Amino acid sequence: MPSATHAAPLEYDFVVVSNRLPVDRVVDADGIDAWAPSPGGLVTALEPVMRDADGAWVGWAGQPALELDPFESGGIHLVPIALSADEIENYYEGFSNDTIWPLYHDVIESPGYHRVWWESYVAVNQRFADATAAVSAQGATVWVQDYQLQLVPRMLRIARPDLTIGFFNHIPFPPYGIFSQLPWRTQVIEGLLGADVIGFQRVADASNFSRAVRRLTGNPTRGPAIEVSLGTEPTRRVIAKSFPISIDARSFEALAREPRIQARAREIREGLGNPRTVMLGVDRLDYTKGIAHRMKAFGELLAEGRLNVEDVTLVQVASPSRERVEAYMNLRDEIELTVGRINGDYGTMSHQAISYHHHGYPRDEMVALYLAADVMLVTALRDGMNLVAKEYVASRFDEDGVLILSEFTGASDELKRALLINPHDIDGLKDAILAAIAMPRRERASRMRTLRRRVHEFDVARWSADFLTTLDQAKRGRFQRMSPTELVDELEWTLDSRKAH
Ligand code: G6P
Repeated sequence: MPSATHAAPLEYDFVVVSNRLPVDRVVDADGIDAWAPSPGGLVTALEPVMRDADGAWVGWAGQPALELDPFESGGIHLVPIALSADEIENYYEGFSNDTIWPLYHDVIESPGYHRVWWESYVAVNQRFADATAAVSAQGATVWVQDYQLQLVPRMLRIARPDLTIGFFNHIPFPPYGIFSQLPWRTQVIEGLLGADVIGFQRVADASNFSRAVRRLTGNPTRGPAIEVSLGTEPTRRVIAKSFPISIDARSFEALAREPRIQARAREIREGLGNPRTVMLGVDRLDYTKGIAHRMKAFGELLAEGRLNVEDVTLVQVASPSRERVEAYMNLRDEIELTVGRINGDYGTMSHQAISYHHHGYPRDEMVALYLAADVMLVTALRDGMNLVAKEYVASRFDEDGVLILSEFTGASDELKRALLINPHDIDGLKDAILAAIAMPRRERASRMRTLRRRVHEFDVARWSADFLTTLDQAKRGRFQRMSPTELVDELEWTLDSRKAH
């Protein structure tokens, strides 16, 4: 419960900190300021947690130089952080999305290393830490999210040693050979080590992180435990392990069961000319998503006459993202050129090869699209998790539809009965597309049943409960008292039970 002190502002026992608030300030068609849900998987994942916890959420409102007082929206207390136009350029577009993002995604694009970007990242992280310290009650639990805020845990610990601090990295953590390119690698590692519990999507991400800790700080690690001693600070035990994120599976299924959504799914198929097979891709327009790879595979199948536009349509939803970053502008040009070429070469008056949409859509429309799609294509070259894959599965209560899933997504660790592919292997991808289209109903149902069991059991409520339980145990000093072997047993339990599942 929020507790008011004599001097406002309010203080909270639970505080989430992320670069974006769950809502963005937008100007609607009539020129009136309004709030719209902000993009990306993070907000979708955390919204239900926040509604239950009655905590505060610290973040940016998505527009330059917007100074706003704390306010409430959809039952969540929001604490806006202002970013200047320069900070958006240097901290957000620069260091976060043109240094860390490509570096952490296997350098698919070259990261830029610029000192002014780094300086802005430090300054903005400090602002987030200060604002969080100001709204956190004595002994509060703070949960910091994602790569834009890696320095916040240590900054907060220095300012407020009474807090319990969690950090969750939603994107991959790269192997040391790649991470070590970063000129500020030690500062980033030390920033993260300010947390009590550091969560990653995959087991491989957590072990990449532990290796970077050993190499850069010399601090010993054993399984999920890191014995942190930095400078003259007393030694603390920090936990780093995987907590694969998920979605609110039940709400997707509930929507999919609504007759109006099913009617909309039929309407979508009719609008496409009722092809025998509808294939679907849904992504932020990002170079990590492998959109060009799936189009290449589809284009070749059409060129070879192994598929025909009368029979198969690919619907590609590519939601606009980070549009002022050059790599994203180039990607948009490349994808739109490819769509134009494929449609020009193979489209007929009545059937387009690719139905391309450069928009985001509300959840109702997304679920209708999932129901309309016989084949879902997730071909990311690297992806922390990929929640779209889980949304598709959760929506298919009819136990139909085939998921083609890149083995370079976090989701592939869990969704093993999808058709797993290497998106760089275009021939393999083409074979998987043909196999998905030809797959008999019984096999589709059997695969989908297994996928659905997984997504429903390990949903977002389970994810946040796992993370917050671990954080609570850290708060009560439980891990500090255990021997390393006991700790491994205790914390690996969840992991092993998942593997056995
Ligand atoms: C990914 C990141 C999130 C981010 C989202 C949208 O899901 O993990 O932290 O919010 O992309 O990107 P944007 O740059 O628009 O916030």
